[in-house]
Amino acid sequence: MLIEEQVPLGPLTTFRIGGPARYFARVRTVEELQQSLDYARDQNLATLILGGGSNVLISDAGFDGLVIKIEIAGKAGDGDTLIAGAGENWDALVERAVADGLWGIENLSGIPGTVGAAPVQNIGAYGSEVKDTLAWVDAFDTHSGTMTRLSNAECAFGYRTSRFKKEPGRFVIVRAAFALSKNGEPNASYKDLADCGKLNITQIRERVLDVRSRKFPDLSVEGTAGSFFLNPVVSAQKAAELLAEYPDLPQFKAENGVKVSLAWLLDHALEVKGLSVGGARLFERQPLVISASRTARSRDVIELAQKVADLVQDKLKIKIEPEVKIIN
Ligand code: EPU
Repeated sequence: MLIEEQVPLGPLTTFRIGGPARYFARVRTVEELQQSLDYARDQNLATLILGGGSNVLISDAGFDGLVIKIEIAGKAGDGDTLIAGAGENWDALVERAVADGLWGIENLSGIPGTVGAAPVQNIGAYGSEVKDTLAWVDAFDTHSGTMTRLSNAECAFGYRTSRFKKEPGRFVIVRAAFALSKNGEPNASYKDLADCGKLNITQIRERVLDVRSRKFPDLSVEGTAGSFFLNPVVSAQKAAELLAEYPDLPQFKAENGVKVSLAWLLDHALEVKGLSVGGARLFERQPLVISASRTARSRDVIELAQKVADLVQDKLKIKIEPEVKIIN
């Protein structure tokens, strides 16, 4: 396994900005993963596990440790279950499921990133989340130095979170299995797909890709990591106060309170669409999304995010948190 030095990380992320990795390794097997982790331990280096780089912002200074890029490949079907290596492209797996007529992840079409990253933040869109179909993951447990299989329950999923976020650094996902169904039906619960109840699985995928292409920046033109912030979960009382002031504010039931639409608040309560710092701006068609020009610095994105968080705190008294992982 080759350890490279000073590898630019921007091109390996969808934001396309940020500095280099001090050390960098591509791993294609569990053995190589183990070797790279051993190297980091022996050299006393911090590690960063990188998948498709679609949910990270690399700081301008880069990462002063070992970046381990997961390129573990392989896709297999087992009845209605699809199993894929952590390095496989997420959307290619969705495409295969749809081609095989296997329902369950079609609403997650078009999400950039890898299979191994999908469970980490429990990716979700249009009323579906990875936790709805994930059967198990095989992961390398850095505590025991062995491979382990974690069930769905053991992954402790929540809104854009999981055990992998709650115990950072412990597990590295190597492959994941999704329990799908030949006899599924459209999940048309989300507003944007409300008229999709009668469509077939291929049509659902096309619809989702179409909706996404209108809501997200074109990655061939500018960078982004999708939603930069989580939608805040507030108390029932706070949600009622917000609703009294903003009757059209979309609200959703959440595990521990009420999830309110930050995109709506940024658009209608704060009117900050298009707000920019340097080459970073709140995307006009979806203000939860920060987009970055090719010449932006990561500092622009971080300053813009801080500005937005301050505005939300001052006007709405809500503390918002980034959804994107910022790498220093
Ligand atoms: N809205 C506006 N103005 C806008 C855009 C949206 O007022 O310009 C309002 C609308 O009322 C809309 C509501 O905001 O109904 C919600 O917007 P959207 O449907 O785009 O969803 P979101 O809550 O902003 C979440 C996820 C996205 C996911 C979409 C669709 C998070 C942090 N984000 O965004 O996920 O694609 O739902 O299901 O939960 C991501 O995590 O990176 C991501 C892109």
